[in-house]
Order: sequence, then structure tokens, then C-alpha cells
Amino acid sequence: MQEINASIGFDRKMWRQDIRGSRAHAAMLARQGIIAVEDASQIEAGLKQIASEIEAGNFPFVDALEDIHMNIEARLTDRIGEAGKRLHTGRSRNDQVATDFRLWVRDAIDGVDAQIADVMLALAERAAEHAGDPMPGFTHLQTAQPVTFGHHMLAYVEMLSRDRGRLADCRRRMNECPLGSAALAGTSFPLDRHMTAEALGFNRPTANSLDAVSDRDFALEFLSAAAISAMHLSRLAEEIIIWCSAPYRFIRLSDAYTTGSSIMPQKRNPDAAELVRAKTGRITGALVGLLTVMKGLPLAYAKDMQEDKEPVFDAADAWALSLAATAGMVRDMKPNVARLREFAGSGFATATDLADWLVRVLKLPFRTAHHVTGRLVAMAEGREIDLSQLSLADMQSVEPGITEAIFGVLTVDASVASRRSFGGTAPDNVAQQAARWLQVLA
Ligand code: ARG
Repeated sequence: MQEINASIGFDRKMWRQDIRGSRAHAAMLARQGIIAVEDASQIEAGLKQIASEIEAGNFPFVDALEDIHMNIEARLTDRIGEAGKRLHTGRSRNDQVATDFRLWVRDAIDGVDAQIADVMLALAERAAEHAGDPMPGFTHLQTAQPVTFGHHMLAYVEMLSRDRGRLADCRRRMNECPLGSAALAGTSFPLDRHMTAEALGFNRPTANSLDAVSDRDFALEFLSAAAISAMHLSRLAEEIIIWCSAPYRFIRLSDAYTTGSSIMPQKRNPDAAELVRAKTGRITGALVGLLTVMKGLPLAYAKDMQEDKEPVFDAADAWALSLAATAGMVRDMKPNVARLREFAGSGFATATDLADWLVRVLKLPFRTAHHVTGRLVAMAEGREIDLSQLSLADMQSVEPGITEAIFGVLTVDASVASRRSFGGTAPDNVAQQAARWLQVLA
């Protein structure tokens, strides 16, 4: 029974939040005349000592005391006697754990948010540096149109900015205090729930005691935000892995973020990126796991809910580590600018520019221009040359109206420079967007 019942093995992680909650509760009890002011100051002093004890690593955690709440309360009573036994007035472990866990998740949100901002900053810096450096843009992982390396970096800045938005939404919605809901029905003691809510930095007390002790939406929203963000990080990780593979060689990662092979001396394996890609699995697993725990639970608290903590702790750790590794890799990677430029123009990447020229200059309908361009691509492909290597006569054999000017749009630089539509890849746009982000993130 003890083994399945105890949560102290993992919920000790919330000791700071538990002590914070108890201090706020005791101060409120005294102010309301529910316990003596003298008892409250003994509780306050005792909890402070316990905090230093835990901090120093010599707190005697006891499995038989089940969880962090009872461990701390029992220790308090050991130290200060009768006054310690008054702390639990008008409170239950149900509202206590709900409060502690909210405080823990809120702290985690603040930590992760700062880390995401740091990854965004790293990406925006690389974007500013490479605002005008072309690289191949892909769809279906097939060469599509040239883009700039900076533009590609900023795509991830946008994703991560939405991740921060999700965290902010989650934080705003969760910021209500369950303390004082007691076991499930509220309490007969004249608590001031507004006072404890304020002391703990919540916007207000929760409005329904049954909901307050049995709601874990805040943890699920945190995990949803984590899962989506981890998915984003996995996409960047996957690109980093592809980009530093030998056939690509788009970027190089230093020894700091790669490992060697014990048998193949030439290997530089992008392990950090692979692990960021893989961590997505356990983070998504945590979300699905907790959704499954909560599904169908009748009101109010049930011990099932003790299974909420490990997935959240684990996902928070994995997310934080993935963000740190990603920030490190983004700052470490060295784009091979010459090679990126070379490949930006290969694979008929400027075919769309040719078609657009036919529309703009010869006033062909786009569908016709698309067809003409297709025939020119087929001709070049048959001769194993690039579009720009076709002669004017070749071009005119397909569309007599074509002039020498066509060659001006077939270069990679002309192609990216022409993509001036808002949000497009033109170097000026990219430089502006990078500057905007650097200012936002400064
Ligand atoms: N360790 C418990 C948990 O994490 C605390 C709440 C226990 N409440 C109870 N009525 N047994 O959920």
C-alpha cells in the first residue's frame, strides 16, 4: 500500500511551493482570528527553518508520510509542537496540492518562457547576419524557390513566438487560487480567500470549490503548449540533422554539439539535434498520459490525480533541456554560405521567376506561362543544363516573344530580391523583420 500510495518520491519537487502556500495560509488564519498571532509566528519561523533544512539537503523525507504536504507538516509539529497542529485549519490536502501544483506550473511557465525568448533571440541574430544569403527553399523536400537563410531562421521565430503566446494564455487562465476550497465543499471557518490569493500572486480565488480541487486543466494546457513547442523544436532539429549530413553540407556544427563514432573516424553525429527531435515523444506522451488519467474522473478529487505530477515534471525538464540545446546549436552552427547559394540556383529553382516574367512582360496568362516554362525546363533537363544556360534561340523556339532580358530574372539574387510581398523572402524584408524581432527581444 505504501509503495503505490506514496508520492513523496516525486512531489518533493514542490517543497518551495508547499511552504509558500502554508505561510500565506497561516498569516491569513491569524489575521482572521482563526489562530493566535503567536501560533502564526511560530509556524512562520518553523517553516523557514524547514526550508533551510531542505535546501541544505538534510530534511528527513519519510515515505510513510506519503507526500510533501504531510512530510512538511509533521516536521513542523516536531519542531514547534501544538502550533504546528493548527496550520491545517480550514484546509485539506486537496486544495493544498491543487495550489502547490499551480504555483509549480506557473514557475515552470516563467522559466520556459525566458528560454524560448532566448532561442528566438539566437535565431533572430542569425537571421540578421544572413538576411541576404540565398539557400534553396523546399516543398516536399524538393527544390522549390530560392529563399534566404535569414528568412528560414525567422520562420522558426514566428513559431516560437506563438509558443510563448500559448504559455501566456495558459498562465492567465490558470492564475486563480484554489486554497480555501478545502476538501471539496469549502469550509465553515471565516477564511479570507482573497488575501491568500493575493499573497501567492494569483489574480483571484477560484469560484467553485468542487472544480477547484479537481481541475487539472492548467497542467494539460501547459503540456499542450509543451507538445506543440517540442514539435516545433523537432522540425528545426530535423533540418539541422539533414543540413549537416554529408550530401547536404549546408551547415557545420562544431564538436561542442556533435559526437564522434567509436569505429568510423570521419563521423560527426548531430546527437543533440537528434535528442531534441526525440524528446518530442515523451513530451507528447505526457500530454496524452494526463488526458487519459483525467478522462471520466467523477468530481471531485480522486487519488488518480496524484498521477498528474510526474508527466508534468518530466515534460518540463525535457522541454527546458531541448530549448537549451537548441539555443546552443543555433548559436554554434556555421552555414556554408557558398554551398547554400550554389544549391539555391540548382534544380530549376528560378522556373517560377521565368513564368512570372512571361506574365509581366509578355502579358501571357499565368497558365500559359506555366506551360511554356515547363517546356523550357524539360529542354534544359534533357540536356542536363540549367535554365540560365539555355540560349536565347532555344528560348525563342518555345516562345518567340522572349528577349535577352529574361536572363536577368534567372539568377538567384534577382529571384529572392523580387519576393517583396509582405512576409516574402526579399533580403530587405528579411533584414527589417530581423531588426524588428531583435528590438522586441532586446
Ligand atoms: N499526494 C496527494 C496528491 O498528489 C495529495 C492529495 C491527497 N488527498 C487526499 N485526499 N488523499 O494528489
